[in-house]
Amino acid sequence: MKYNDIRTTFLDFFESKGHKIVPSASLIPNDPTLLFTVAGMVPWKGILQGTEPAFAPRVADVQKCIRAGGKHNDLDEVGFDGRHHTFFEMVGNWSFGDYFKQEAIEYSWELLTKVLGLDPAKIRVTTHETDEESTEIWRKVSGKEAIRLGDKDNWWSAGDTGPCGPCTEIFYDFGADIENEDDRWVELWNDVFMQYDRDANGNLTPLPKRNVDTGGGLERWAAVLQNKKDNYDTDLFVNLMKAIESVTGVTKTQENTPSFKVIADHLRAVGFAIADGVIPSNTDRGYVIRRILRRAMRHGQILGHKGALLSKLYPALITEMGAAYPELAREETRVTEIIQNEENAFADMLQNGMKLLENEIPKINNNVLPGDIAFKLFDTYGFPLDLTQMILRDKNIDVDVAGFEKSMAEQKERSRANTKGTRTLWESQTQLSATDDSTKYAPDNLLRSKVLSILRNGEFTSDAQAGDEVEVALDKTNFYGTQGGQVGDSGELRKDDETIMNVSEATRVDNVVIHKGTLVKDLKVGDIVSTIINSSLRQQTARAHTATHLLQSALRQVLNDDVEQRGSKVSPDSVRFDFSFGRAMTAEEKQAVEDLINKWINADMPVTHEEMSLDEAKTKGAMALFGEKYGDKVKVITAGDISCELCGGTHIYHTGEIMHAKINKEKSISSGIRRITMSVGSLAE
Ligand code: ALA
Repeated sequence: MKYNDIRTTFLDFFESKGHKIVPSASLIPNDPTLLFTVAGMVPWKGILQGTEPAFAPRVADVQKCIRAGGKHNDLDEVGFDGRHHTFFEMVGNWSFGDYFKQEAIEYSWELLTKVLGLDPAKIRVTTHETDEESTEIWRKVSGKEAIRLGDKDNWWSAGDTGPCGPCTEIFYDFGADIENEDDRWVELWNDVFMQYDRDANGNLTPLPKRNVDTGGGLERWAAVLQNKKDNYDTDLFVNLMKAIESVTGVTKTQENTPSFKVIADHLRAVGFAIADGVIPSNTDRGYVIRRILRRAMRHGQILGHKGALLSKLYPALITEMGAAYPELAREETRVTEIIQNEENAFADMLQNGMKLLENEIPKINNNVLPGDIAFKLFDTYGFPLDLTQMILRDKNIDVDVAGFEKSMAEQKERSRANTKGTRTLWESQTQLSATDDSTKYAPDNLLRSKVLSILRNGEFTSDAQAGDEVEVALDKTNFYGTQGGQVGDSGELRKDDETIMNVSEATRVDNVVIHKGTLVKDLKVGDIVSTIINSSLRQQTARAHTATHLLQSALRQVLNDDVEQRGSKVSPDSVRFDFSFGRAMTAEEKQAVEDLINKWINADMPVTHEEMSLDEAKTKGAMALFGEKYGDKVKVITAGDISCELCGGTHIYHTGEIMHAKINKEKSISSGIRRITMSVGSLAE
């Protein structure tokens, strides 16, 4: 019988026994203690415990499960035998307070021997040593004498606490000629008689209702029914293997079979998980899926295949399983795109990381890869620890996991020190002269700036390499460094017309402008670079800053003249403005403020930028910030006859450049202080 037909036969059988057939629940469980749905009963935990009402007394389904990355983890075994999977399908039937041991055992026996036609002589069963009742039922139903085992084998629970009870397991015997016990005896089905709830102290309390929870691995059923000793030799996997052959152009042989198995298994795990909404990431279930995907790519590489793999195989998964799981085809575009992005991001890292690893292998002593190398593979090349371990396992090389963790902890410490402590480090550079940033208001000037200092990983260095995250001080710059509530410029440093560093933000430590970002090429102290700001972001910040001045004037007009600025953050097209005011603004007041600002924008008033002495500015009536210190020369920004403020920020030249303003929120941040957020420009439109 074909894999897909077994699934339908199972469901049809239980439907004929009065069960409600339901589709599989998501692989993402509604249970914070689990990364994935690991068994068919996971969605029904609440019903079994009696905390949720049962929607039907008898239910059957085939549940998608993943056992990887958490307490239930089969990841490392996949590929090495014929029985392990990260993704598998669990067939299950449930009685929620309805039938109990008698019918459960009868149904199992009838389905396996009468409907699916397994030879009764090849079936063996086990029961819990205390469970006389099930043992007696087996005798009557099948004439079989159950093997009686203890808690380890025949007591089942969903976790350390929760619903549990004795179980009876049904095995298929592949024959005495098979020496390996695990290969000879295949567990087909587990019928759990859930009658207790276990608390954190191990106490068992009888459940309000006696339930049945059964589970069987569809992949094993297929193997037994197709008389295969290896789940991966059943029709569904054979078809997936063919797809792998055609995508990679490599024929499956005895030697490369483990890689074929891993890829076929991982295709199912990654494809189904992403279809259910898991996004590959660096944490939790997202990281488990990323790791599985990267392992699949490594096995593609072993086969001599480069680049995208699972994204190319996904259509084959839809062909094999799409009829039973419509979400696979429904989500195809999204899933393929996510997998492609992951594969593109990792492809080069995999090649380069393998080169590094191959260089290191000859240097290895005592068959242990040093932890710092494993960490470098992780940090620079994106090799999850278990990927490195998997690669080395064939060569009988271990990884110094403690050393890996130590390197990881050290790096965390460095980056913590980095974010907190760079200001102090820069402050200690007393020999450093102030940055000449006089061209920041006219940033199109082409400067030839000299690199004065480079800070990397908490240490000053004379040269840094491509890929390094650094902070750089120059003798002069066009970048506006974060100041006065205005977020600093981003952009790039160029050397000989080529980008040498992407600058994510320019900040200031006193009068030194610090360029923070990532090097694209090597950089050393003394290099001559030009400072190119991102001018569209600069324009967005400038219009937000001028809009902030209009906002202040509008608030004073609509509320009262006592409104005073208490803080602000001006970013590209967005404004956060804190001001003194004793109560919440009404909806009408907010609307009036917004209308006024838009009226001034539409009037397209000129905005002038003047430099003058502080006295002159005061005479002109420029508004100064409470508590702010100003130098002798100040900048005064005037918008029509609406606003005149002392301000060192960058501004536009006509209010019309703001395009539009929209007030988003107004709320209290402390007693007597309100906060308004506003969008401008294309963001507001
Ligand atoms: N819940 C039982 C299992 O997963 C049936 O084995």
